[in-house]
Amino acid sequence: MILVTGGAGYIGSHTCLELLEAGHEVLVLDNLSNASPEGLRRVERLTGKKVELVEGDLRDGAALERLFGSRRIEAVLHFAGLKSVGESVEQPLRYYDNNVAGTVKLLEAMGRHGVKRLVFSSSATVYGDPSRVPVTEDMPLSAANPYGRTKLIIEDMCREVFRADPSWRIALLRYFNPVGAHASGEIGEDPQGVPNNLMPFALQVAVGRRPVLNVFGGDWPTADGTGVRDYIHVVDLAKGHVAALAKLDALGGCVPLNLGTGRGVSVLELVAGLSRAVGRPVPHQVVARRAGDVASVFADPTRAAQLLGWRAELGLDAMCADSWRWQSQNPNGYAR
Ligand code: NAD
Ligand code: UD1
Repeated sequence: MILVTGGAGYIGSHTCLELLEAGHEVLVLDNLSNASPEGLRRVERLTGKKVELVEGDLRDGAALERLFGSRRIEAVLHFAGLKSVGESVEQPLRYYDNNVAGTVKLLEAMGRHGVKRLVFSSSATVYGDPSRVPVTEDMPLSAANPYGRTKLIIEDMCREVFRADPSWRIALLRYFNPVGAHASGEIGEDPQGVPNNLMPFALQVAVGRRPVLNVFGGDWPTADGTGVRDYIHVVDLAKGHVAALAKLDALGGCVPLNLGTGRGVSVLELVAGLSRAVGRPVPHQVVARRAGDVASVFADPTRAAQLLGWRAELGLDAMCADSWRWQSQNPNGYAR
């Protein structure tokens, strides 16, 4: 069976669904600090298959010991972590403890039990402000905030674990900007409080929970002056994990892989796409730039295509239509 840490969350729950559809048995470890168990119940309904949810924390060595001691775990998909950039600046130690110390505990337990196959949720944030786009995996890495640094440290840790014991197989999946939801509209992203990211904020404006979307900067050196990112449909991303798992042994080491579409989309293009999906304009206004932002980041996804035989298939219209289906059918998310 596959252990999915953080499997009750946004990307994890979509990945559990794709794993089940691909015939894997799935065990989730999640402390539910940023998720509701309802998402996994819906995954079970959609697939007609069981997902075992163990409510527990990555940093609880005894809980990990019980998990690894009592099941035959083939590989770990490691999503569990805190992910808010602003919060990480205010509470850095909480991020180092949860993300870095939690991963140390996980890798220790894996090593002790001879489970040396890992797929880790990294992020395009490890490229900092890239010197050119599209971004390739060999470009220099840097961290602009504590959240980003936890990803860099964990990547470094994985590289060193592999160097010390080359029998490990590790994929470091660098996600670009995940958006969208399962086509059923039954599972999706359910942010707590004010969303930081563009799509969840725009969706809450579209559904009437907030009056207007602030577009951070209209004077970036991009075609329409707004920031450009590589939005990737979460179902494509989830399938990327199933592909990484299938190819993990063949990858033969500790390998970073960009998971993106390769296509840059501006804030205004995304707002236009969402307005088409909703059937009316999403109210927005251009305001000052957000501190720490960069003009344009998008992936070169060639390596993932070559090594995993995977590429993103869903475009902006599907991302917007599926996001809107989830948001309009669940205006208050899972209503935790
Ligand atoms: P999410 O918050 O929805 O999912 C993370 C899950 O981990 C949650 O269910 C949370 O309850 C759980 N969790 C957190 N700390 C834990 C701990 N100590 N023990 C057990 N469970 C714990 O976030 P997501 O968007 O699904 O992101 C998943 C992963 O992908 C994260 O590691 C994130 O940093 C990374 N990532 C996300 C994005 C994005 O834009 N969503 C982009 C790049 C990378
Ligand atoms: C953010 C995180 C990054 C993380 C990534 C993926 C920051 C500084 N960085 O980056 O670490 O890996 O998400 O989830 O938070 N925008 C608006 N109005 C909004 C929100 C965003 O105009 O209300 C714009 C931004 O200026 C940017 C684009 O939309 O141009 C995307 O923003 P966002 O969704 O926050 O993602 P990133 O900036 O790529």
